[in-house]
Parts: sequence; C-alpha cells; structure tokens
Amino acid sequence: MNEAKSIDPNGSERRAAIASAPLVELSGVSRVFDNGAIVALRDIDLSIGAGECVAIVGPSGSGKSSLVNMLSGFDIASQGTVSWNGVPVLTQREWAKLRGSEIGIVFQEFNLLPTLTAIENVEIPMFDHGISAPERRRRAAESLERVGLGGRRNHLPFKLSGGERQRVAIARSLVNRPKLLLADEPTGNLDRANSELVSDLLFGACAGEGAALVLVTHDETLAQRCPRCVRLLDGRIASDTVHAPNG
Ligand SMILES: Nc1ncnc2c1ncn2[C@@H]1O[C@H](COP(=O)(O)OP(=O)(O)OP(=O)(O)O)[C@@H](O)[C@H]1O
Ligand SMILES: [Mg+2]
Repeated sequence: MNEAKSIDPNGSERRAAIASAPLVELSGVSRVFDNGAIVALRDIDLSIGAGECVAIVGPSGSGKSSLVNMLSGFDIASQGTVSWNGVPVLTQREWAKLRGSEIGIVFQEFNLLPTLTAIENVEIPMFDHGISAPERRRRAAESLERVGLGGRRNHLPFKLSGGERQRVAIARSLVNRPKLLLADEPTGNLDRANSELVSDLLFGACAGEGAALVLVTHDETLAQRCPRCVRLLDGRIASDTVHAPNG
C-alpha cells in the first residue's frame, strides 16, 4: 500500500522540490510476492541524480530487475514511494507518460516488435506525442544512423544479428532523448565485440546528452565503467560505492 501524498502539481512546493531533488528516488521501497513469502526488495532507499551513471550488480535473484521495474513503473512497490524530480509517482497513467517521454528502457531480450522494420520499431515511442509522420521518420532515421544502422532501416528484426537488434533497441530507447536510461543486462545475449559496441552507445548517451544511466549487469568490467556501483544482496543494498570511472 502506497501511503505517499501527491503535492500540488503546479504549485511553489512542487517547483522547490524539483529544484533540489534527485531525478528519481526510491524511499523505503519494498516489493513482496505471494503474500510476503517472497521478498524481492527490502526497504530500499536510493537516489539517482540527473546525468548519473550507476551500475546495479548482485547475484541472480538479488532483486536487480525488480529494482529496475520500480524505476520504470512497470511494477509498483508493495511499500514505499518512488519520486520523479521530487514528486511521488502515484498512478500508472503518470508512469506511462514518463516512459513515453523521459525514460528509455533497454532489455536483455531486445523486445523489438517482429512484424515491424527497424525504423518502424524506433518510431514507436514517438506515437502519442503529436509528432508528424515525416518528422517521426526523420528522427527515427537519425537515431538509427547514430547506432550505425542507417543502412538496415527497412530490415525486419529476424534479418538482423543479435548485436544489431540491440542497437535498434538502443536507438528506440534514445529517440525521445530521455533523462533516464534503464538497461537490464543489455549485453547479456551478446559476444564481447557487440557488448562493447552496445555499452559504448549507452555510456555515450550518458556523457553526451546528460541522460542518467542505470545499468544492470553481471559483467564486472562493464560495471566498473560506471562511476557509481550499487550492489544488491537478498533484496537489500549491500553497498553503494563511488569511484573514478574506469579506475
Ligand atoms: N512476479 C514474481 N512473482 C514471484 N516472485 C518473483 C516475481 N518476480 C521476481 N520474483 C522473485 O524476486 C526475487 C528477485 O528477482 P529479480 O528478477 O529482481 O532478480 P535479479 O537480481 O534480476 O536476478 P537475475 O540476475 O537472475 O536476473 C527472486 O527471488 C525472484 O524469484
Ligand atoms: Mg534480472
């Protein structure tokens, strides 16, 4: 049960909260399943600042995907609050709006629609934004160029390699220039060369456009490229450390 109260959406209280608040913040977040028999997240407090680059690591089952699901609003906390720019996000409608404009998401399984071409997949997040069809096409083409796939725009996903599919998914996640990029094991299905390509694109979005990046990975080398690393253990934050990037 979420006990947070929303604050006046346009008032001075909200403006003050935005000015000082982290981009996204979990306060006392728990997620239980099966009437409490399974505890995926236990009383998590976590703040992510604008433009921050954070690795989430931990053993299988420690709660990494559950945490990402809280940050995307794909799942709702059993207890606690998730705030965006200091304002609690309370409804699925608010989450859908954030995912449509402010949050980009990349999954291990790519999650492209199989009957749409690469460029059509990249256009998906731009629907419902009042963007004209030619402008959608132009922006999608630009985003595909950016991930080095301008020449594959009309290919269906099954004609693309795994690495290429993930680059299409990244083009899709970046096309609305999100403030938060969530990537759950984005390189989990890729070989070393494609992993590097894909992670360079994610870090490039963070450094180049100031998007915050939350990167779930089992790959310690990849995690070390993030200045901050949050380690989960049994649904809790076991450590939250900051170090020099690539150090
Ligand atoms: N829908 C669900 N119903 C019941 N239990 C769930 C559900 N989703 C997750 N869990 C449980 O919550 C715990 C955390 O799962 P989660 O998927 O967050 O782990 P993870 O750290 O992402 O693991 P992996 O590295 O294997 O992806 C696990 O014990 C998992 O079985
Ligand atoms: Mg997971």
